[in-house]
Amino acid sequence: MTKQDELKQLVGQEAVKFIQDHTVVGLGTGTTVKFMVDALGKRVAEEHLSIVGVPTSARTRVQANSLGIPTKGLDEVDHIDLTIDGADEIDTNFQGIKGGGAAHLWEKIVAINSRKNMWIVDQSKLVNKLGNFPLPVEVIPYGSRQLFNRLKEQGLHPEFRMTDGKYVTTDSDNYVIDLHLKQIDDPEALSLKLDQMTGIVEHGLFLDIVNTVVVGTPSGPKVLN
Ligand code: 5RP
Repeated sequence: MTKQDELKQLVGQEAVKFIQDHTVVGLGTGTTVKFMVDALGKRVAEEHLSIVGVPTSARTRVQANSLGIPTKGLDEVDHIDLTIDGADEIDTNFQGIKGGGAAHLWEKIVAINSRKNMWIVDQSKLVNKLGNFPLPVEVIPYGSRQLFNRLKEQGLHPEFRMTDGKYVTTDSDNYVIDLHLKQIDDPEALSLKLDQMTGIVEHGLFLDIVNTVVVGTPSGPKVLN
């Protein structure tokens, strides 16, 4: 396991300590969350925890179910107590970029329906300013080439996310365009601008959403509130 994976595993294991019995837990997506779901599966098996997970992607649902963690869809629960998710960048104001795993649409919907949100990251994800990580934008496939051109005209440096020459598709069958911005000086203004562009379903700027960040460092997990 790489050093970075060790830190991811560490925060995954730390995060499940915050999960209480008889609660509804939003389950994020990504390599860090995968470690968290492993640790949660262990708790469910060993402590017979009675929790329900609300997964933010098909892959998280499959993993959770394979470990005996019961899951429900978002519309099958009346609330979510705590969602634990990863992040691609977090700035000093706890604003973040997500969507590196193309799951940010479901992740954001689950997050805004959660009473509390926790992000788990290795220390490399902490930044002074957002934007070095390309900002993911989920777009409707219809007319997406035209939308791409509009993003380009606005100087937002778009790039369709592709794998093996094919468009990456999300769990909602949309495409992802990554914006290579290098630096985002005004995340709120950019968020509003992208919210208003027809054809964009959701972008990866997660502003004023998270309450707690658990950071993996070589000297152990640090909980930031
Ligand atoms: C998926 C996400 C992930 O949470 C984010 O990309 C972090 O992933 P990882 O833990 O693999 O670094 O937003 O859409």
